[in-house]
Amino acid sequence: MEFFDSHAHYNDERYDEDREIILREIYASGVTNAVCVGYNFKKSELAVKIAQSHDFIYATCGISPNDIEDFSEENLKKMERLAQNKKVVAIGEIGLDYYWNKDNQNLQKEIFIQQIQMANRQNKPIVIHTRDAVMDTIEILKTYPVTKKGIFHCCPLNPELIKEGVKLGFYISFSGNITFKNAKPEKAIAQVPLERLLVETDCPYLTPEPFRGKRNDSTKVKWIVEKIAQLKGMPKEEIARVTYRNAKRIFEI
Ligand code: NI
Repeated sequence: MEFFDSHAHYNDERYDEDREIILREIYASGVTNAVCVGYNFKKSELAVKIAQSHDFIYATCGISPNDIEDFSEENLKKMERLAQNKKVVAIGEIGLDYYWNKDNQNLQKEIFIQQIQMANRQNKPIVIHTRDAVMDTIEILKTYPVTKKGIFHCCPLNPELIKEGVKLGFYISFSGNITFKNAKPEKAIAQVPLERLLVETDCPYLTPEPFRGKRNDSTKVKWIVEKIAQLKGMPKEEIARVTYRNAKRIFEI
């Protein structure tokens, strides 16, 4: 079985000691493609650097709603130059987070919109981070359509968001949170058509059961594939194959 981890952060400090070892391990485990996702300028730069030195790793660049202090006209210009690198497959993660940041909602929206426009100029999809901001996220996507669409990363298990997201042509990516004991992912997963489904680890965060509490990495994406297979009543090989193919399609790899 081959897996595509559509969202990982190998640019995180937690891999500084053993990044090369982990990347070899994940490839050997069958994760033959993974996207290293940026969230501010420096981490986007590092994502591109990692992607450039590993054939099977791709990168995204963008400023996340939790890294707003990184936003400036100058950084946005630098980001757009970075986005032209051929290993950059999307702009992200970008979006809205009213869970961690309630006080700067208008600024978050403005920066999200500016980066959607950048994605459209660069003809790339976007990777969306959205938390406690469902309606505003959907409204922005309707008002500022993304030419190449994109992905709801670590998609909240919110029926309205998934319904609208799918209708808008976006992909839905599930992470380790669907394996957590208190999660109720049945409905959400049933809502996503197979051809829009993606899997991700969001490592080093969101380590799936039964490894919760430990540092996450892409070898654990198979637990998410397994959980979805179980809920959809399908063989895990089929979920692995479908999510792999979907990721290649949206990232144009
Ligand atoms: Ni992330």
